Amino acid sequence: MSVVAARELEEDARKYASEAIRLDSQGAHGMAIQMYQRAISTLIKLVHLYPDYHLNRHYLERATVYQERVKAIQQAHGLIPQDQATEELPVEATNVQVGGNSKGPQVVQQLKASFSELVIKEKPEVKWDDVIGLEDCKGAIRESIVFPFLRPDLFKLGWPRGILLFGPPGCGKTMIAAATAAEIDGYFISIDAASIMSKWLGEGEKNVAKLFNNARKMLSDNLRETDGINDKGKNLHLYVIGATNKPWSLDLPFLRRFAKRIHVQMPDSNARMAQFRIYTAPLTLAEDVNLEALARLSEGYSGSDIKDICQSAQLRVVRELFSSGKALDKETQPRPIALADFKEVMRSRRPSVSPEMRRAYTQWSDSFTAL
Ligand SMILES: Nc1ncnc2c1ncn2[C@@H]1O[C@H](COP(=O)(O)OP(=O)(O)OP(=O)(O)O)[C@@H](O)[C@H]1O
Ligand SMILES: [Mg+2]
Repeated sequence: MSVVAARELEEDARKYASEAIRLDSQGAHGMAIQMYQRAISTLIKLVHLYPDYHLNRHYLERATVYQERVKAIQQAHGLIPQDQATEELPVEATNVQVGGNSKGPQVVQQLKASFSELVIKEKPEVKWDDVIGLEDCKGAIRESIVFPFLRPDLFKLGWPRGILLFGPPGCGKTMIAAATAAEIDGYFISIDAASIMSKWLGEGEKNVAKLFNNARKMLSDNLRETDGINDKGKNLHLYVIGATNKPWSLDLPFLRRFAKRIHVQMPDSNARMAQFRIYTAPLTLAEDVNLEALARLSEGYSGSDIKDICQSAQLRVVRELFSSGKALDKETQPRPIALADFKEVMRSRRPSVSPEMRRAYTQWSDSFTAL
């Protein structure tokens, strides 16, 4: 691990925490909460990024203490507004994420009331490290979301609020959005970019504008209450991450709302190997199975295809055991999975993304990628 980077985060956390304590002691509760929350997310980030760091236990304890203090202040001062009458936004639920930097079940209630048709998910469990490959994509997200979240003061011209992830199905778009969500400890409203377009064809731009406005308004109203300051949402950490596997169905005004547009591509050979490593880890493999061979054979398959392939290979040996009549004896195990099993599965299960589709994504990407 990089000790230097960990030190920097450590230093940031210390700065935020001492500022929080100073504000707290002066009675500037709203701003103190914000600083405590920055300290908490920095500590959590530190622990996530450097899981082996020897001071992690100490950091988590500090984070818990700050969290308790935040709760205590919020309760003592009734800092969370009761209700909010906002315009309804008719969108169908499934993949744009909105992140904010304040917390509390009350806020989630508000969002629910206002975006009544949107599904609000619990903070996702996915971590950056669970996302295999896609380094460019992760880098771009880090720059446009994580950096401004940690050091808003450095982004004098603001930062991009809209990021569109596009690419073939099953290659990690939703995973990346979820990992980002987890990293900045934000809120997530999940909607599918294409469904906004298709249901209200021609109204896509209007709908996404409404989505931004409503989310910004609700979160900034909430922050105004909790912070005692109103910066008109300038430093509000609100992001919309759109995810679509049909980017060509989006119109230009809609696209313009997403300053960053990132192609989430099919896994290359290394990424496929890493995926096979993960999905075969709990399985019993025969001697002739090696990851290099699997990666070579699976050219053209997506991440979720690879998961299915491993599942089907395991199913083959389990099926055999059942048809032998010996499965009910708990001591009997299926035979190890051989390379031939994987080959057979791949023969009968073609990639879910055809070469023509791949070309279509690349073509669209050539015209519309914005990093
Ligand atoms: N890059 C990846 N790293 C790890 N797992 C992956 C990756 N890509 C796909 N997977 C596996 O495939 C599943 C589906 O991926 P995900 O939901 O992120 O796809 P998607 O790109 O959002 O697809 P869709 O366009 O259909 O929504 C994941 O839950 C994971 O198991
Ligand atoms: Mg998805």
